[in-house]
Amino acid sequence: MDIWFGIVTASDTRGFEQDTAGEALEALIAEQGWKLRERVVVKDERASISAAIVKMADEYGVDVVLTCGGTGLSLRDVTPEATQDVCDRNVPGIAEAMRSYSLTKTGRAMLSRAVVMQRGTTLVINLPGSEKAARENWEAVCDQLEHAVLMTAGGGH
Ligand code: MTE
Repeated sequence: MDIWFGIVTASDTRGFEQDTAGEALEALIAEQGWKLRERVVVKDERASISAAIVKMADEYGVDVVLTCGGTGLSLRDVTPEATQDVCDRNVPGIAEAMRSYSLTKTGRAMLSRAVVMQRGTTLVINLPGSEKAARENWEAVCDQLEHAVLMTAGGGH
């Protein structure tokens, strides 16, 4: 099944070339035979992150937007809020699964405020920003993504 992705990395310090987490996610998507529409890096600004999510979902019509970074406790970490600003429904189980799996890797996993939500037929998944954390969170959800995308698109079981 073709699944289209967009990647939105939120970072005040990294540009596109330094976005190793986004680059790793790009490779992980390709490994599954899935497709990347676009990868962008935006500043840790709520409006910029929201706008990038909306563009991926509405203009490009991707099935999944992976955001990367900005889920922590610092006041500049606003990715969950930016996601909530432009999404309709919460999908708590996926975020719970990511945190639960991540806690087997590091106790610091409890410091991610990542949310997973739907904007129409697009699933938006917040991932933490380090390459290691992004890879581990992907590991936690990868094998359920196809079914999640089918359901988000309006499919039945
Ligand atoms: N989850 C996994 N699986 N592995 C990690 O190394 N790092 C944590 C957490 N989640 C981590 C993780 C840390 S140290 C932080 S501060 C939070 O994610 C938030 O990261 P972010 O602000 O880059 O989004």
